Amino acid sequence: MNLKKNKQTKQELDLTRLPKHIGIIIDGNGRWAKQRGLTRSMGHKAGFENVKTIFKAVYELGIKHLTIYCFSTENWNRPKEEVDYLMDTFRKMLSSNYFQDLNFKPKLNICGDPKRFDKDIQELIKLRMEETKDNNDIVLNLCMNYGGRSEIVNAVNNAIKDGIKEFSIETISNYLYTKGQPDPDFIIRTSGELRLSNFLLWQCAYAEFIFPKIYWPAFTVEDLKDCLISYQNRDRRFGAIKNS
Ligand code: IPE
Ligand code: IPE
Ligand code: MG
Repeated sequence: MNLKKNKQTKQELDLTRLPKHIGIIIDGNGRWAKQRGLTRSMGHKAGFENVKTIFKAVYELGIKHLTIYCFSTENWNRPKEEVDYLMDTFRKMLSSNYFQDLNFKPKLNICGDPKRFDKDIQELIKLRMEETKDNNDIVLNLCMNYGGRSEIVNAVNNAIKDGIKEFSIETISNYLYTKGQPDPDFIIRTSGELRLSNFLLWQCAYAEFIFPKIYWPAFTVEDLKDCLISYQNRDRRFGAIKNS
């Protein structure tokens, strides 16, 4: 796979200026399926296969942190059949052989409140996080039963339990699911929707955003490269002004 050359824009990806952390809102599985006369579950099947493809490409680019929004705290409101299918998908993703064919070792970090999951899924989450905690090829944050607002509330409550009485930005950051990781510098939301839907609200403070009009199962490595080239053309100022 040629990760550097880009067909569409002709601009080359500068491998020295990539984001340290990418967040992806994998939206459009249902619409992708509908377009093809398939069930929504088939859209999720294709979507989660694509998670693996894009994950491998992100690793090959040398990016060390990837966060995938897999299931929001609001997604429980979907029909039971769809939620059940997604839960089975997560069981497969958390099984020991899911990542076995990779030629690198990811550290898996499940972000979100595990308590609402069935016991076996809770066990798998614990097991995979423990088992992969010393891996350092790439961190894969999987957001499951995740909501940005709940994450912040949870962080504050846990800090209070630890006896913290006064808060700083660092204190809150250290109690988030992404503690110790750089904030995402680039957020990709596929499908064309222009919203965050409760994703990484705290961590996105200075992230760059892109909203490709492509349903997630159809989003390719080439599209990822296009997004990254767009990122490299941004002028990130962080509130300051340029020295001329
Ligand atoms: C996103 O795709 C995947 C999850 C929420 C798990 P959707 O299921 O939201 O697909 P659309 O937005 O209905 O097309
Ligand atoms: C956001 O997508 C959540 C995930 C991708 C897991 P949704 O499809 O749930 O978001 P809305 O409902 O369009 O805002
Ligand atoms: Mg959606």
